[in-house]
Amino acid sequence: MDKLAITGGVRLQGEVRVSGAKNATLPILAGALLADGPVTIGNVPHLNDVTTMIALLVRMGVDVTVHDGMRVEVDPGNIQHYRAPYELVKTMRASILVLGPLLSRFGEAEVSLPGGCAIGARPVDLHVAGLQAMGAEISIEDGFIRARADRLKGAHLVLDIVTVTGTENLMMAAALAKGHTVIENAAREPEVVDLANFLNSMGARVRGAGTNRIEIEGVSALGGTDYNVMPDRIETGTFLVAAAMTGGRILVKRTRPAVIEAVLAKLRDAGADIVIGEDWIELDMHAVRPKSVDISTAPYPGFPTDMQAQFTAMNSIADGVGTITENVFENRFMHVLELQRMGADIKIAGHSAVIHGIAGLTAAPVMATDLRASASLVLAGLAADGETLVDRIYHIDRGYECIEEKFQQLGALIRRIV
Ligand code: UD1
Repeated sequence: MDKLAITGGVRLQGEVRVSGAKNATLPILAGALLADGPVTIGNVPHLNDVTTMIALLVRMGVDVTVHDGMRVEVDPGNIQHYRAPYELVKTMRASILVLGPLLSRFGEAEVSLPGGCAIGARPVDLHVAGLQAMGAEISIEDGFIRARADRLKGAHLVLDIVTVTGTENLMMAAALAKGHTVIENAAREPEVVDLANFLNSMGARVRGAGTNRIEIEGVSALGGTDYNVMPDRIETGTFLVAAAMTGGRILVKRTRPAVIEAVLAKLRDAGADIVIGEDWIELDMHAVRPKSVDISTAPYPGFPTDMQAQFTAMNSIADGVGTITENVFENRFMHVLELQRMGADIKIAGHSAVIHGIAGLTAAPVMATDLRASASLVLAGLAADGETLVDRIYHIDRGYECIEEKFQQLGALIRRIV
């Protein structure tokens, strides 16, 4: 199993280019199932989760061609069946995103239930309830969601909880439904907006994405398109925190500063000097230790849960005491145990972690448990004294493209051990 070896203590410096957003690419690849013609998607990141979604489409008989320059062509014309098997869904919960498109376009879908997950129960009940309200017949049998519908009908949906993939699934289903759908309490994440823009480029009629009320006027068919995925805001934030933790100065290019304001505000509170342009962010920490910050995660535009672990790592070495409250997922403090093994002073009480910053972490062998937890361990390693070995980095390869090359570009002493 691959590991990352990181010798900490180097102040990060230089430029890094952000890849396409994982959480926009996955729904967009699933959304390509809705098209009558070939869909070309650009700025697709080379990530294990993307490979899994492509494998899922190929398994159904969809033609997928990966071209140079991170462009992927998807043609669902030859699809043979509508099933997402357990062995793929268990490696990636976002596989559930094929449910809405399959049902809406082909009238049937069979998707394995995702099952247990390292970061809490994460049910998909709201996806199912929304599709039922649109007229689908759904049963849960043998660990599978089995869904059928002649043609989905528009409906007024009020989501109990803000769910990102739930909103996306229902939006995709509604795109080909008969009539008008309203999704209230919709997720406002930028990736939801990117998906809506993609669907509209295929001829869908989606309005209000980015607000908590999305309206979709169903159309009878959607055409092919050529669409570029937005930049990854979580990858952007991860590099910025790495620079802040090492007292460095970096320029993050090809990103979208407007969608990570909550993260930038906390980095400024931590003492970072930040300058932004339209598609770049420069952070300068002036070789100073960060100050502790309090974080409370919330759906967008609140502070993203996917940046929580990275800020926990930063608070571990910051000046002062910081409290991190996780409101989106239960059981998302797996990284804390590993950070403690590097000397961090963290106490967990319910869904909060209180962190007394210490002057420096010490290197240790640590184990990644989920995607963002593993990112926090890499950041801790970059700031620690000595050589940290991060094991089980397949988690990090699910969501960060060329992580070691990009950090090397910023001067970090990091290498992959295969
Ligand atoms: C998406 C992101 C993930 C991010 C998360 C929250 C993708 C592929 N993944 O995950 O990176 O951490 O949003 O920003 O975009 N819930 C229910 N019932 C449901 C659906 C969700 O109770 O039917 C709950 C979940 O357990 C969780 C909360 O709602 O507590 C939010 O989850 P959700 O937004 O659905 O997360 P994902 O879409 O899976």
